[in-house]
Amino acid sequence: MLDRTTIARILYSVSRDDPAHALQILGETDAVPESQRARLTDVLESGDTAVETARRLGDALADEGVEKDIVNECYRAAFYLGDRWADLAENPLYAYFLANRAGGVLHKWPHYFPIYHRHLERYRGRPVRVLEIGVYRGGGLTMWQRYFGKDAVIIGADIDEAAVRATEGRFVVELGDQADPSFLRGLHEKYGPFDVVIDDGGHTMEQQIVTAETLFPLLADDGLLIVEDTHTSYWPAFGGGLHEPTSFLAWARARVDDLNSQHHQDLDRSSVWSRQLGGVHFYDSVVVFDREPRFRAFDEVAGGSSYILADQVSERIAVESAAERERVREELASVREQSARLTAQLARVDADGSAEALVAERHELEESLRRARGERADMQSRLTSADRRDQEHAAALDALHARLAASEERLRLLEGSVSWKVTGPLRAVRRTVRHG
Ligand SMILES: C[S@@+](CC[C@H](N)C(=O)[O-])C[C@H]1O[C@@H](n2cnc3c(N)ncnc32)[C@H](O)[C@@H]1O
Repeated sequence: MLDRTTIARILYSVSRDDPAHALQILGETDAVPESQRARLTDVLESGDTAVETARRLGDALADEGVEKDIVNECYRAAFYLGDRWADLAENPLYAYFLANRAGGVLHKWPHYFPIYHRHLERYRGRPVRVLEIGVYRGGGLTMWQRYFGKDAVIIGADIDEAAVRATEGRFVVELGDQADPSFLRGLHEKYGPFDVVIDDGGHTMEQQIVTAETLFPLLADDGLLIVEDTHTSYWPAFGGGLHEPTSFLAWARARVDDLNSQHHQDLDRSSVWSRQLGGVHFYDSVVVFDREPRFRAFDEVAGGSSYILADQVSERIAVESAAERERVREELASVREQSARLTAQLARVDADGSAEALVAERHELEESLRRARGERADMQSRLTSADRRDQEHAAALDALHARLAASEERLRLLEGSVSWKVTGPLRAVRRTVRHG
């Protein structure tokens, strides 16, 4: 089996564009099984670039089942030999990570840094509450404080007392098990609601799922949960496995149904995930859940060629119809009020007795009431005809839309036709003559 020193020497020769020397080192090593040697020789003789060679060495060794650290070295070499490292140059977390030579221990996959920055940048400089589950020796807590700024409150949680001792005085680190929902709820009650929760704890299926189920609903609105190292979903030692239905990633994939719960009647629309999950982002080994109160989705139409004519017409018709209806309604209300007043007056006259003056007044009132009723009938018929006109306008508008669609279709067919193409130059000449 290849050891670390030998692979380091081989990779060094590859990086110097000296595959012959790499082959010589491989030839001098006895500890390599024949099948592995043949495959590595093949890669080193391929004439590929240094980047490709390092990557293919990693793939070959991974297929041969050699230890992960050795494969990791090949992929690390391939990355830094290429030009993708430059993408990380502007990333403040990566800059901190690289500069942290003598600070607290930090062990990260570099491809996490762009993911963190993409999702967390908007919280920087704000008085956010951040919880990191899995503290180890506190290197992460220091990095987060630096990244989010002095106004951020950074809290740690770990099952190991060593983490509490290592960070004593600099950060609050609570001791407890992330698979225990009451411990997590206690953190929320004491320090929450959290804007950001980063789960970098024990990485077992149970720990990740319990943490997400317990803390996501308690996040601040606009908060998020980041779960790291989700590749453990493929590892039996952590309770995972390929296509394992109880893995964290299987559980996380089911959240996609919650995002879309409105679109199938058998999906539960009332769960916290359906109501509060704004997005779920899957990356290699990282999943990010956005908490965002949802509204029911709906669709509407804007744009298209109808803006040329039909939308203006329809808007004018709609505004005019609404205004006309409103006016008639107001008039009708006032006539109704007048008629009610007259009826009440009439009743009072009736009740007051039979003096001649009262009889005359009653006649007068009856006459006014008759007129008011006539006006009311007139208003009602105007309202009916306003409604009818509105319907006629709507029908006319539909016809207009249909004509527009038909003419667009004819134009499309015409443009696609042979005669249109053939007569193209002729039209161009006509246009020139017309504008000349
Ligand atoms: C990968 S380390 C964390 C590294 C740290 N986030 C950093 O960036 O430096 C994982 C930590 O999770 C802790 N841990 C493991 N199981 C846990 C559990 N059930 N509850 C809480 N923490 C746990 C371990 O004690 C360890 O300190």
